[in-house]
Amino acid sequence: MPQLRERAAAVLESGAYILGPEVAAFEEEWARHLGVRHAVGVANGTDAITIALRAMGVGPGDEVVVPSFTFYATAEAIPPTGARPVFCDVDPETFCVTPETVRAALTPRTRAVVTVDLFGNVAPVDEVEALGVPVLSDSAQAAGSRRHGRRAGASGAAATFSFFPSKNLGGFGDGGAIVTGDDAIAERARSLRFHGSADKVTYDDVGYNSRLDELQAALLRVLLPHLDAWSDGRRAAERHYAEAGLAELVALPRPTEGAEPAWHLYVVRHPRAPELEEALARVGIGARGYYRTPVHRQAPMREHGAAARLPVTDELAATHLAIPMSPVLDRLDAIQVVSAIREARA
Ligand SMILES: Cc1ncc(COP(=O)(O)O)c(C=O)c1O
Repeated sequence: MPQLRERAAAVLESGAYILGPEVAAFEEEWARHLGVRHAVGVANGTDAITIALRAMGVGPGDEVVVPSFTFYATAEAIPPTGARPVFCDVDPETFCVTPETVRAALTPRTRAVVTVDLFGNVAPVDEVEALGVPVLSDSAQAAGSRRHGRRAGASGAAATFSFFPSKNLGGFGDGGAIVTGDDAIAERARSLRFHGSADKVTYDDVGYNSRLDELQAALLRVLLPHLDAWSDGRRAAERHYAEAGLAELVALPRPTEGAEPAWHLYVVRHPRAPELEEALARVGIGARGYYRTPVHRQAPMREHGAAARLPVTDELAATHLAIPMSPVLDRLDAIQVVSAIREARA
């Protein structure tokens, strides 16, 4: 895309590299795209979670409920707020939390729940919020997804995104954003990303140096108008897999009720997933188990996860397998992958 080079050159020549007009414009465009009032650009999707939770009032002594079947960063972002992660289970077919799995982890100390739009599916944020606890939606993997006609990230007290290069909307380095309809959360997040200050003179908090930079923002502005077409491509790839007969061979992911996922990863289930992974690798097809060790079993999380009993998470860790997914995966690609899976299972 020649526009990327042009915009990058323009930023280099502008002399404004941090919190300038490109970040402000991207924040406005990203908020408008999602249909939310505010977007706050930060350095990455991990900081976005920490900062959003603190902006929501989470702090020392609090508990934050979080699924264990997710990327490590979702839970890793909680202890820096002073709160403790409390792990919950997920639905075996959607990979997302449900009101029931969250309810089982609630205590009088629960201050927030982090739901995860895992693999591009959209977690039932409204239903979890109906339990009476504020929800932060980790939508890092779900740019382009929708549920009940709303964009992933447009529900809950706030949501976070990552613009890591491999994401559905990926930049050319690290980047992230917090989005919210709540003016106070947005204002506090803006302050926290800048050392806890609104004016660089007085400091209200021990905050962070965590900004989306001008170069990333300028490049993301070039890519954003393509996001919906890419998301349609991901949905078409899912249809190609269905038409090629994938459901006869492995268990397919199920969108949550009302969801239209722009699958970031297309994750199927099979009792011998690691063997299938190896067999596919032998014929040159990249398939991968992303979360073989769930977060609550990772060494740094043991103090928080030791008591957790999460049978679905443990089963998914062993049986999930991400097969190729991209906006340009066509009918023939799908037939080739499905044939390889058929042969590998034979
Ligand atoms: C579900 C989830 N949460 C959080 C993150 C963290 O984002 P980042 O890598 O931008 O810090 C990622 C991606 O890396 C992710 O997939």
